[in-house]
Amino acid sequence: MTKSLALVTGGAHRLGKAFALTLARMGYSIALHYRGSANEAEHTVKEIREIGVDCIPIRADLMIPEKIDFLFSLVDEFKSPLKVLVNSAAIMPVGKPQELDIKDWDSALDLNLRAPFLLAQEAAKRMTKGGLIVNITDIGAQKAWSRYPSYTVSKAALESLTKLLARALAPSIRVNAIAPGLVLPSDVVTEAQWNKLVEKLPLKRAATLHEITSTLEFLIKNEYITGQTIVVDGGYSLI
Ligand SMILES: NC(=O)c1ccc[n+]([C@@H]2O[C@H](COP(=O)([O-])OP(=O)(O)OC[C@H]3O[C@@H](n4cnc5c(N)ncnc54)[C@H](OP(=O)(O)O)[C@@H]3O)[C@@H](O)[C@H]2O)c1
Repeated sequence: MTKSLALVTGGAHRLGKAFALTLARMGYSIALHYRGSANEAEHTVKEIREIGVDCIPIRADLMIPEKIDFLFSLVDEFKSPLKVLVNSAAIMPVGKPQELDIKDWDSALDLNLRAPFLLAQEAAKRMTKGGLIVNITDIGAQKAWSRYPSYTVSKAALESLTKLLARALAPSIRVNAIAPGLVLPSDVVTEAQWNKLVEKLPLKRAATLHEITSTLEFLIKNEYITGQTIVVDGGYSLI
């Protein structure tokens, strides 16, 4: 039987890699998108192939719409039908709304919102026998994070897009989002700032990767959920 295919954006490392490995363990062949992290992508491809499924790395700058067409030209080379798209690639420019550079506004919107939209359009054309699109958002979508205006707005809009696409693509394709809180620190916060944020959480710790990826498994297995954002945040939304 031809195995189903899953496409994961930003899959070379960190959360994207964890989503790709989870899907590989579920038996999906993997189209592993990356942009700059070629070495990490190579290692992840090796780990995925060791699980026993097919995996091809695809390099593309998703801020450029033509590169999304290129990405799908390679997705079409897989023998397996596309069944799952995980939109994980994102950037988080820092800057107060009063000062944010227009480039930092556009880049976050282009990558975090327009790219998932264009990827969903192309994926939907190929998911002729059904499928699932999962957008990775952030608990920040429900907040007013003034240090990250373009990121926060892009993730809020991505949750809106999730609902809109879920309605438009039903009944054959489901569209959902996962909104993590704190998982892995990035270079936009210092270790001290990260620890302070974690300490404020009702559950007093960051999420494990498994706590995020098991939500993807849940969304694959429960075929009656569409248009929802599943918040996995240790209570961040309560503060
Ligand atoms: N980390 C957390 O605690 C956390 C919390 C809440 C939500 N999230 C969300 O979860 C997702 C993954 O988070 P993360 O922390 O693992 O992400 P990350 O380390 O910031 O990685 C982002 C990914 O985006 C890709 N990327 C950056 N610019 C790109 C471009 N122009 N074109 C295509 N791809 C590009 C990068 O690919 P390359 O490295 O190959 O360039 C990278 O794999 C994101 O959507 C994020 O908003 C994360």
